[in-house]
Amino acid sequence: MTTFADRAAELRQQLNYHIYRYNVLGSPIITDAEYDRLYHELKQIEAEHPELVTTDSPTQRAGSDLSEDFPKVPHAAPILSLANAFSEEDLRAWEERNRKLLPSDAVLDYTLEPKLDGLTVVITYENGILVKAATRGDGEQGDDVTNNVRTIRNVPLKIPVDPNGPPAPGRLVVRGEVLFLKKDFEALNKRQEAEGLPLYINARNTASGTLKQKESRITASRPLTAYLYNIVTVVGYEWEKQWDTLNYLRDLGFPVAPDVGYYPTLSDIIQQLPTWESRRSQLDFEIDGVVIKINNLLIADELGFSGKDPRGAIAYKFPAEEMSTKLIGVTVNIGRTGKVTPTAQLEPVFLGGVTVVNASLHNYDQIARLDIRLGDTVIVKRSGEVIPYVIGPVTGARDGSETSILPPTHCPHCQTPVIQLDGLIDYFCPNRHCPERIFRSIEFFVSRGAMDIEGMGPQTVKTLIERGLIQDEADIFTLKRESLMDLEGFADKKVDNLLASIEAARHRPLPQLLASLGIDGVGEVVARLVADHFGSMDGVLSANVQAIDDIEGIGPVLAQNVVDWFADEHNQQVLKKMRAAGVTMQAEAKVIASDSLSGKTFVLTGTLPTLSREQAEAIIESHGGKISGSVSKKTSYVLMGDQPGSKADKARQLGVPIISEAQLWEMVGENPTESNTNPQNPTQPTLL
Ligand code: IVH
Repeated sequence: MTTFADRAAELRQQLNYHIYRYNVLGSPIITDAEYDRLYHELKQIEAEHPELVTTDSPTQRAGSDLSEDFPKVPHAAPILSLANAFSEEDLRAWEERNRKLLPSDAVLDYTLEPKLDGLTVVITYENGILVKAATRGDGEQGDDVTNNVRTIRNVPLKIPVDPNGPPAPGRLVVRGEVLFLKKDFEALNKRQEAEGLPLYINARNTASGTLKQKESRITASRPLTAYLYNIVTVVGYEWEKQWDTLNYLRDLGFPVAPDVGYYPTLSDIIQQLPTWESRRSQLDFEIDGVVIKINNLLIADELGFSGKDPRGAIAYKFPAEEMSTKLIGVTVNIGRTGKVTPTAQLEPVFLGGVTVVNASLHNYDQIARLDIRLGDTVIVKRSGEVIPYVIGPVTGARDGSETSILPPTHCPHCQTPVIQLDGLIDYFCPNRHCPERIFRSIEFFVSRGAMDIEGMGPQTVKTLIERGLIQDEADIFTLKRESLMDLEGFADKKVDNLLASIEAARHRPLPQLLASLGIDGVGEVVARLVADHFGSMDGVLSANVQAIDDIEGIGPVLAQNVVDWFADEHNQQVLKKMRAAGVTMQAEAKVIASDSLSGKTFVLTGTLPTLSREQAEAIIESHGGKISGSVSKKTSYVLMGDQPGSKADKARQLGVPIISEAQLWEMVGENPTESNTNPQNPTQPTLL
C-alpha cells in the first residue's frame, strides 16, 4: 500500500522534474492543468501531514516572509569580477600577456558565453539540496537571499533533477546570474500599468530589487530567471575544463544560458563577435557583452590574478545600449492620421555606437506616468533597429528647475485645437486639411514600402505641396512636365526619371495601392487578402464590415477601419481622381487551372526537387488549394522536400499526411516532365 509519505515523495520528484522540463529544457511533457493537479495533490497532503513538508518541495518555492535585514553569508571562495575588453586588439593583447606567463607549448582553447546583464548569485547545495543562496556582496560575503532564490522557478531545489543524472556531489557551490527575461519584464510592467502603478525602468535594477525583497512572496510574484555558469567549489567531483563545467551543470539540471560555445582558438572567438552583437536585441534576455574563458581551468588557475581580476577570463563589452543624458526639449510631431507624437531633444549622447540627439517619448500619457520633466536627466535606450527611446527619468538627479511636459493645446502647423478621443491615449489634430498631415500622408504614399515612387523624396513632396502642385496623393498622377521643369534643381533628366517612376506607380498591383493608402492596420498582408477577396477597388468600396470581417485573417476592428476609410468623402474623392488618372484599380486576373484541390490546405517545408516554393504555391492555388504557414489539425497536407523543418515533425504528431512533389503532381493530374512549371501559367489557363 502506498503511504502518504511515499506519494508526497513521488509528487515532489515528478513536479520538480516537470518544472525542470518547463523552465530549463523548454519542452514540457504535461499541460499546465496537469501540473496544477499534481501540485494541489501535494499541497493537500502537506496540509494534512505537515511533517512531510521538505525543503525541496515545490510548494516551498513561494516562501515565508523575512522581516529582519538579510544575514550575511561568507563566500566559500572570493566572488571575483572580470577585466574588460572593448576591441579585438584588447582580446589579442590579453592572449599575448597570458602566453608570456605560460610554457611555450601551452594550448589555449576557449569557451564563449553571453555576459548576462543581471546580478550574481552564489548557491550552495549539500547532498543535492539547495541550502543557501547569497548575493555577491563585497565578494567576500553577500546577503543571504536563500528564501528568495528558492522562489525562482528554474533554480532546482534538489539536484540531480533527473534521477538518471549524475549523482549530486557532497557539496557544490555554483555561481550564476539572476535576471528577468525580456518578455517577463514586459509582462511585469503591463501588470503595473493595469494596476495604475509606476513602471519599472531597468530590468537589471528591478531584478536586483526583486532578489533583495524582504518578502519572498513579492519575489515569487515577479518571474525571475537564473542561469548558472561557474562552479565556485565542489567536493566529490573532478573536472578541468570550463566546457565540462557547463555540461556538468546542465546534466545536474541547472539552467545554463543558451548559445554557450566552445572554440579552439581566439580567432574563432573573434569571428563570432559581430554575430553576437547583431543578435543581441533578438535574445530572450539582456546581455552587455560576452565572456571569454580559457577552457583549461588548470591553465586558468596557473595564470592567477592581475590585481583582483582572474587572468583566465575576460569580458568583451558591447557598446552600451542605455545611457543617461539631459532632456533639453520636446518637439511635437503630427502624423498623417493627425496623431500628435512627442519627441525628446537630448544633449548628444553616444549610444550603441552612434550619437543620439532625438528619442521617442511614446505619448503624453507615458510621459505623465513616468513623470518625465523638461530638464530631467533621463535614461535613453537604443537597441538593434529600434528607434532610441526615453526609458524614464533619474529622479535623484533633479535640482528643482525641471518643468512638467504637457500636450500641446493646438496643432503647431494649423493651429486647430488638438483633441483626445474617448478611450484613446493619443491626441490628434482633427484637421484633415492640416498641411503637415497632408505632407505626411503623401510622404508615406510615395515611400519605398508603399507605392515606391523613386525620385520623390520628402523634400520633393514638400516643394510640390508648397508650390500648390499637389494637394493629395491623386494629384501626383496628373503632374505636368512643364510644372516640374519649373522647380529648382529639376532639369530634363531628373524630370524624365520622376515621370517614369510615376508612370510605373500608375500600374502598381491593387494590393500595393491598398497598402499605400494609409488605412490603419492595412499593410501588405491584409491588403492582399482584401484585394484577393473583392477583386477591385469598387468591390472594397461597396463592402460592409461583415463582408470584410468574413475574410479569414481579418478581424472586426480591422474591418471597421477599412469601412470607415472608404466611407470618408475626402478619401472617395481622392480615389475618384486616381481612377480618372488611370491608376490600376482592378486585381490581376487569377489563373485557374482546375478545382481539384479546392477545400484543401497545404503547408510547405523543405526544398522540393524541381519546384521553387513560389512555383509550388502557384500550382496549388491554381488548382483551388490554399497555402498556410503553420501546421494544425486543419492542414490537409504537408508538402515536404529535402531538409524539412519542424513542420514535418508537427505533421507527424498531428497525423497530417505528408506528401512529396511527385504526389502533388499526381493530385493535380499532371506529369511534371510534360508540364509547364511556370507559376504564371501552370497548365491550360482559364482566365477569371
Ligand atoms: S564569469 C571570475 N560568466 O559579469 C569569474 N560572469 O564583469 C567571473 N556575468 O560579476 C564571472 N555572465 O556577474 C561570468 N557567463 C558569465 C557571466 C558573468 C554575466 C557577470 C558576473 C560578473 C560580471 C563580470
